[in-house]
Amino acid sequence: MMRSFLMLCLSMILLIGTACSDDSSNGKKLRSAKADPSSFNRTSPDAEDTSEAPAEEEVRTVPPEQLAKAKEILAAATEDQIAEVDAKGKYKMFCAACHGFDGALGVNGAKDLSASKLSLEESVAQVYFGKGLMTPFKGLLKDHEIVAVSKYIEKELRK
Ligand code: HEC
Repeated sequence: MMRSFLMLCLSMILLIGTACSDDSSNGKKLRSAKADPSSFNRTSPDAEDTSEAPAEEEVRTVPPEQLAKAKEILAAATEDQIAEVDAKGKYKMFCAACHGFDGALGVNGAKDLSASKLSLEESVAQVYFGKGLMTPFKGLLKDHEIVAVSKYIEKELRK
């Protein structure tokens, strides 16, 4: 009963659709309507790009003071400390929600960690200080845990 009603509705829609497309004036309207959104789409990301370009430029490279802190963290973490960390477990608990277990989930624009080209220092800096929508893990993870997880990304997730 419900199905035949739906079928009826569908065929009505189809009929109306074909009737409209036969009408040449409507066809024109459709075409101009199509042209408008596409030009709108073309201009809007451009507009965003130009307005965001300077800000992004600044953020793209890790700020020197953050790199310096990352170097400190790396220098302070001993091999033994790092080896004791369950890096995979920490990664699953703190990172996988956005990055996925394989690093490529990309929730909220989270970068694909399996394709990341950051140096260990840059990764440590970004995990410690956060960036954009990524939470800073300073205080949530101990310094040497941040190193361990960053190493885990390099060794286990990168292809
Ligand atoms: C709330 C979501 C979220 C969580 C949780 C999260 N990240 Fe991220 N991550 C992001 C986003 C978003 C970016 C991209 C930031 C940008 O460039 O603006 C990112 C980028 C990165 C990058 C840089 C990759 C590159 O090549 O630029 C690294 C490294 C990273 N995350 C590691 C981690 C680690 C390690 C954890 C867990 C300790 C973690 N992330 C947890 C959202 C998250």
